[in-house]
Amino acid sequence: MKEKELIEKAVEASKRAYAPYSKFFVGAALELEDGRVIQGCNVENASYGLTNCAERTALFAAIAQGEKRFKKIVIFVDRQDFTPPCGACRQVINELAADAEILLVNSSRKIKRTSISELLPLSFGSEDLKGSHD
Ligand code: THU
Repeated sequence: MKEKELIEKAVEASKRAYAPYSKFFVGAALELEDGRVIQGCNVENASYGLTNCAERTALFAAIAQGEKRFKKIVIFVDRQDFTPPCGACRQVINELAADAEILLVNSSRKIKRTSISELLPLSFGSEDLKGSHD
């Protein structure tokens, strides 16, 4: 899939965001190794802490569909500032999609490319648990 198409998938997903409280509409498009795309949006709740971010919505949907190999994650918000993933999403990306390229996209469709190693240095992950159950 062309990167422009992938970005438009994230834009489309942002329009489905359920964000009546923050009015901050986030879309994510997760490209699989085979080129297919899984979309995610943020889903809020009157009990605010239950909110699920767009990135985690997409990643959890992918896992539920049996997908494990991810190429790119696009994160789109219709604002001039780039929206980086929150701490919780960084930890989940580190767990499930550590090799994926992360593209932050703003309202002008400008792209800031990053990676989980840049966003979450000195991370805690499965490697750190090795030996702890022996
Ligand atoms: N949000 C995301 O969906 N992804 C991010 O990367 C940052 C924050 C959502 C959570 C909440 O619904 C709204 O944006 C404001 O924090």
